[in-house]
Amino acid sequence: MSFVNKKVESIKQEVEKLYAQSKDESMRAWFFKGHVMLVANYGKEVAEDVGADVEIVVLAALFHDIARVWEIDDDPELMNESLKTTREVMIRYGYSDSKIKEVEQAILHHSCRETLPQTEEGKVLSTADAMAHFLSEFFLILPVNCWLNATDNFEEYKSWVKRKIERDFHKKIFYPKYRAKVRKKYEALKTVFNS
Ligand SMILES: [Fe+2]
Repeated sequence: MSFVNKKVESIKQEVEKLYAQSKDESMRAWFFKGHVMLVANYGKEVAEDVGADVEIVVLAALFHDIARVWEIDDDPELMNESLKTTREVMIRYGYSDSKIKEVEQAILHHSCRETLPQTEEGKVLSTADAMAHFLSEFFLILPVNCWLNATDNFEEYKSWVKRKIERDFHKKIFYPKYRAKVRKKYEALKTVFNS
């Protein structure tokens, strides 16, 4: 059975292959299954629930971090390269310019840093991204995967996590029902990282 429809299923397989070929071990070993597909699945669930466009949300989920495959981990390059790949692949699959723009819009604001999502699909992507952080081993596996290699500073990692879980919980989740779903995990992480 295909995921959403045949086109999305093929794109999903392409994206999975790109992650599998990454030079970054953590991308190959964990990120596609442990993060990207969780965002896609929660995105699908929330989109169906709130009446957003499932195809747009799932495509945005598949592409939202894609430049990490090429070890590009910081904005603005991460965002620019991810949007560039989104456009290239979607054109190749025959999507219209307006569909491509809807996916780009959702990806563009999903981190809720300076700007907030402008569309329902963007709100769903942001919600699903935050849910995937809480409802997986995300915050526990990151230091193992890469973070400590880069900084070698656990105190810095802890304060980054503390800021991120507040933004994820209060800013990125747009629907109270889904905030309630991750509340226990949010409280638990807060306890662990405040200790
Ligand atoms: Fe993400």
